[in-house]
Amino acid sequence: SSSAGILPHHDIIGQLPGQFLPTSTGARLLLRRPSLDEYVLLMPRGPTIAYPKDISAILMMMDIHPGDTVLEIGSGSGAMSLFLSRAVGPKGRVISYEIRDDHHNLAKKNYRHWRAAWEIGHMEEWPDNVDFVLKDISTAAADMKSVTLDAIVLDMLHPQIALPVVHPSLKQGGVCAVYLANITQVIGLLDRIQTFKLPFLCERIIEVTHRNWLVVPAKIKNCKSSQMVETQENIEEAPQKEYEEIHIQDQVVLKEDEFNESFSGDGETFSSVPYVARPSCWQEAHSAFLTKLRKFRPLHS
Ligand SMILES: C[S@@+](CC[C@H](N)C(=O)[O-])C[C@H]1O[C@@H](n2cnc3c(N)ncnc32)[C@H](O)[C@@H]1O
Repeated sequence: SSSAGILPHHDIIGQLPGQFLPTSTGARLLLRRPSLDEYVLLMPRGPTIAYPKDISAILMMMDIHPGDTVLEIGSGSGAMSLFLSRAVGPKGRVISYEIRDDHHNLAKKNYRHWRAAWEIGHMEEWPDNVDFVLKDISTAAADMKSVTLDAIVLDMLHPQIALPVVHPSLKQGGVCAVYLANITQVIGLLDRIQTFKLPFLCERIIEVTHRNWLVVPAKIKNCKSSQMVETQENIEEAPQKEYEEIHIQDQVVLKEDEFNESFSGDGETFSSVPYVARPSCWQEAHSAFLTKLRKFRPLHS
């Protein structure tokens, strides 16, 4: 149920994606499968997830391939685990450590649900390639001896405590990506690497920003005595002033003069539909800093 009307579940179940379904008010909704990034943004969360925009950059930083073995700490809600699972594929392996059993169980549940939903619409099953381990990584030195890791990703409050435990298992030249919300935490991490002479070189620290744009057909609107143009969003909002360009959230209303100039300048009509195109008023805020650490072989070894 939404402002567009009611669409019962039984009208949706069994239908193929890509078609429009009518609601009780006659509006049409496009039916489609959720993408992985949509699923992780909407699935039940315990701790904050790594955001899909950041995960894409982390996957690139780690340069992981199908068949790789990747270590993740911690599992959290399981968002990153799902993307890692897809990146390493059926021949690869993800080992995901989590200290809290509620988070461990939630990550496993979210992973299981995604795999089950995947099966409905696909011939090949989603790989079952994530080992969720309920353990504090600082006590896992013995486990680490039996693995060789192509890459590591640390998404935990104090990644400093994990580095001494996990670095011996990372292959020479491999990447450890660290996801931290505050730049002061990044400084603390780099300071720890220097103080304890850990074999990591910091290659990059980045923040991923997406700038959302609004490009929508404008609508002609009769406003008191003037004829105006506005986007299809928020058309219920009353314009604040006549004959002036105003911005209310994602709404743009053009002056009558501008409208006439733009669309019938020299007696010629340029376009039948005026467009509004500008950065959206709604932008994503800061999520995290991504630090790329490269393992090196110390000169004396
Ligand atoms: C921000 S969450 C991770 C979110 C996850 N990457 C996701 O995308 O859903 C951080 C997790 O690290 C776990 N953690 C913190 N310290 C840990 C440790 N020493 N060993 C294992 N997990 C730890 C926390 O319990 C928490 O669930």
